[in-house]
Amino acid sequence: MGIFSSTKTKNVKPARKLEGSIQMPGDKSISHRYAMLGSIAEGPTEIHIFASSADCQSTLNCLAKLGVKIDRRENSVTIQGAGLEGLKPPRDKLDAGNSGSTMRMLAGILAGQSFKSVMTGDASLSRRPMKRVIAPLTEMGAKIQSAEGGLPPLEIEGGTLKPIHYELPVASAQVKSAVLMAGLFAEGETEVVESVATRDHTEIALEQMGADIGRHHRTIAVRGGARLEGKKIYVPGDISSAAFFMVAGMLVPESNLTIHNVGLNPTRTAILDVLATMGGRVKVLKVEMLNGELLGDLHVEPGKMRGGEIAAEMVAGLIDELPVLSVFGTQTEQGLTYHGAAELRVKESDRIAVVAENLRRMGAEVEEFPDGLRVAGKQKLRGAEIETHGDHRIAMAFAVAGLAAEGTTVIHDSGCVDISFPEFFETLERVSG
Ligand code: S3P
Repeated sequence: MGIFSSTKTKNVKPARKLEGSIQMPGDKSISHRYAMLGSIAEGPTEIHIFASSADCQSTLNCLAKLGVKIDRRENSVTIQGAGLEGLKPPRDKLDAGNSGSTMRMLAGILAGQSFKSVMTGDASLSRRPMKRVIAPLTEMGAKIQSAEGGLPPLEIEGGTLKPIHYELPVASAQVKSAVLMAGLFAEGETEVVESVATRDHTEIALEQMGADIGRHHRTIAVRGGARLEGKKIYVPGDISSAAFFMVAGMLVPESNLTIHNVGLNPTRTAILDVLATMGGRVKVLKVEMLNGELLGDLHVEPGKMRGGEIAAEMVAGLIDELPVLSVFGTQTEQGLTYHGAAELRVKESDRIAVVAENLRRMGAEVEEFPDGLRVAGKQKLRGAEIETHGDHRIAMAFAVAGLAAEGTTVIHDSGCVDISFPEFFETLERVSG
């Protein structure tokens, strides 16, 4: 395979073998949370293997504008905690860039401040729904203005918050986290109930930092006013980034890949379960627990891939992996079907439409549903021009498709991989020799 670089376009050629040992960038979800919680903790929070993603840099930029002292060196970040009452009114708008996590979770912290702040985002983020955080935070007492339809920018006037009991209407870890973070500033106990388990990194980080938090089945309760302690932590590699290499390693015939130190939090490992049930060969080695999070090495080899249907209740745990799983489906015996994934339409792009569009460009047969996709199996993919719509996970999913296609696949606007995985193409080039 040969990949040539330009800022905007990458060409991907079919590969026969992917080989080697690789590391993923630090987990994006965990990095956002420790940066945000570290900023309202007491003392320093040292975050090692902080995500290299542009999204996490957006979080740091917003925190800096709130007066937080941040020291970033290579892949470590130290946040000097300002305490629960120490953030400063920003002189400028807070720019969340492309990052839904930054805007939604930080809204929870801003709701508890005694000043007004405005959060903006890029064109893609400006189209993403914010009512899901506006509703509970307003119920807690914050005053929030948005553009029409509950879209960004958000103007948040915080103040004294009251605790609520909130049943999440959408399966979203960002919304759950926003309410829990706001709960740190409320007078009493805030409860969030989820009907489907979503990633629990906020709960773990709060436990690690000494918050007064309780968990019982799907209910999480946090008591306001408790001091958070700054913490030294190591962020595991991002399993959602590793997913591209898991699928690549399974599709490319003579592959032998090891991915080190991947986060294996059980709320994130549905990708391993799905690949295993569909005939994949991903072995988990050397598991350990660090700062409340599991991590381990993954070994990936090609195998016979059956495909099948992904149960709707698994979808929330796979939400970021569905684009690359859709590509995987085209190379399985039975193809792949999923429903219950309407949330995919309000991600960085409409990922159902954009996956379908690009798979068709590669000559694949795809059926689009309002809440999912069906891709036929045993399909020959042809190299094609891929429109990423500026969506990092689309760029990476179709680079993986290009490895299994005939001819050259051209990924336009490939620089968008910086949003979660700036080293993606470099890593791919390395394992393809
Ligand atoms: C995230 C939660 C998910 C996910 C996103 C990161 C998080 O979003 O898609 O990439 O860190 O909490 P939702 O909460 O909107 O499902």
